[in-house]
Formats: sequence, structure tokens, C-alpha cells
Amino acid sequence: MYLESNYHIPVLLNESIEALNIKPDGVYVDCTFGGGGHSRAILQHLGESGKLFAFDQDDDAKKNLPDDERVVFVPQNFRHLQRFLRLHKVNKVDGILADLGVSSHQFDEAERGFSIRFDAAMDMRMDQRQTLTAADILKTFSELQLHKMFEQYGEVTNSKTLAKTIKEKRAVSPIKTINDFKQAVESVVKGNPQKYFAQVFQALRIQVNDEFGALRELLQQTPTVLNTGGRLAIITFHSLEDRIVKTFLKSGTFLETEADEVYGGKIENPFTIITKKPLLPTAEEMKRNPRSRSAKLRIAEMK
Ligand SMILES: C[S@@+](CC[C@H](N)C(=O)[O-])C[C@H]1O[C@@H](n2cnc3c(N)ncnc32)[C@H](O)[C@@H]1O
Repeated sequence: MYLESNYHIPVLLNESIEALNIKPDGVYVDCTFGGGGHSRAILQHLGESGKLFAFDQDDDAKKNLPDDERVVFVPQNFRHLQRFLRLHKVNKVDGILADLGVSSHQFDEAERGFSIRFDAAMDMRMDQRQTLTAADILKTFSELQLHKMFEQYGEVTNSKTLAKTIKEKRAVSPIKTINDFKQAVESVVKGNPQKYFAQVFQALRIQVNDEFGALRELLQQTPTVLNTGGRLAIITFHSLEDRIVKTFLKSGTFLETEADEVYGGKIENPFTIITKKPLLPTAEEMKRNPRSRSAKLRIAEMK
């Protein structure tokens, strides 16, 4: 078993456990098990009859499972939340937590291809059963698709030039590894290279794992799955993700017609928003764990 601190340090731990308002006999879902830091804290608050469903699409996370009969590990994308809960004969739960993005473990394992610190294949898949990798995207996306991806998911300021450069360079020699990529685009790196590549890699990672699509699908299922009084707690790590959560919580739906009816007063928002402004890590947490710096926690309760 991995040591928690090696695999991942849980972010906003006390705040998110408090957010869930855990009932000892309740049923909870940790959508992003990872190193299991949040799950272990949930288990400490659950009694013998409580239950925890822990989702993670990365097989590596399994290594961190506690020997505890109250836990059911679901090695799936959380976008299939309702389907897999039903498979376990569960229709309603009392709390759902998602701590989005990649774990430190994924980021620190060179061969996963998430970090510019190493040279490895341009992979970036959280779920290794998936076939699409970052290298495939660099090879097959049109110039316009690359441009939009870097602009929308990485907020890369020269995304158009970057896309054009990738298209030109890949025609000469394939971009398969992180070093291939760095060399191919080195002439267009703008500003601080570390920051630039972090934004570019963020965009690729979001695309490879369809992170926003999965988040939207998860959120859309939560009003159906949560019991009255049940809590939803979502930790995001960049403004684009936070905006998705914030927008969803305003109406409890992404479906335009439903949202219109909410605003038109016909349907009531199924949620009470607990955090008008998201909770942020304390200065002490940010110092202890710099990866927590951009974290934001939003909490809502089912009416
Ligand atoms: C930030 S880490 C979670 C860390 C965890 N809370 C802890 O305390 O160790 C995110 C984890 O969620 C998983 N993950 C991200 N998106 C997912 C998705 N759509 N479905 C299932 N798992 C996902 C990743 O594989 C990763 O292990």
C-alpha cells in the first residue's frame, strides 16, 4: 500500500468532510478516490452500517483501498455514477464528493505523461483502458481543433500560432514524446516556459480525459441521486471547472429548457447553495501543500 503523502495529500480535507454533514448510517460517494485521503476521513465518521462507494477510473488507485467492508470500489468514470450505483442496488445517497483533476501520483509518475518535468510518451490518460492519448490528439486534430482546445481549456494566449506550429512540425516528424513536443514548439513559447507548458499540458489533459464532459454528466445526475438533505461537495482546481460547478448550482441543471423554467419560476432549484463564495485553503494549508493553492470547494444541499 502507498503512503498517503507519497500518493496524494488530500486538499481541503476538514472543510470537505464538514461539507458532507456525514450521518453515521448514511451512504456516501467519493467520486475521485485517488490516494483515499478523503475516503478514509469519511469512513472515520461513518458507523458500522454506513456505506461508501469510491469511484476512480485509474486502476492504480485500487492499491490504496482500505480493508473495510463498508467500502465498495467502483473502477469507473464518475460520469456513470447512477448506472453503477444502480448496479449495486442503490438509488439514493446522502452525500457526493468530487475532488477533481489528477492526483500527485499520476503527475509524479513519469510514464503517465502528465508532467513536463520528465520525458515520456505524450499519454495523459487517467483511465488506461481508454485508447485516445495526447499523442493521438496532436497527430489527428485539425489546426482549428488544436487552436480551440488550447484557447478554451488552457487559456493559452497564442493558441492559434501554437496550433499552426504543431501542424507544420508534425508533417515533418511525428510528435510522440514530451521532448518531441517541447522541441516542436520551442520557437513559440511565450513568457515563462514553465507556466506556458503548464497551460498547454492542462488543455491536452482536459481534452484527453474529456474532463468537462465527465463533470457535466456527473453534476446533471446529482439531483436524482441525492436524498433530501443530501450534500454535494465539489473541489475544483481552475477557473473553467469552477465556472461549470457554479453555473450548475444556480439552477441544478444544464438542460436549457429546464434552466429556463427555473428562471421563469416554474421549477424550483433543487439545491440550496451552502457556499455563496467557494471555500479556499488556509494560508497554512497552501504552505504545507502548494498543490492546494488553486483549490475551491463549493457545497450545496438537496431541498
Ligand atoms: C485529485 S485526485 C483525488 C485525490 C483524493 N481525494 C485523495 O484524497 O487522495 C483525483 C482522482 O480522481 C480520479 N478521476 C478524475 N476524473 C475522474 C473521472 N471522471 N472518473 C473517475 N475518476 C476520476 C483520478 O484518476 C485521480 O485518482
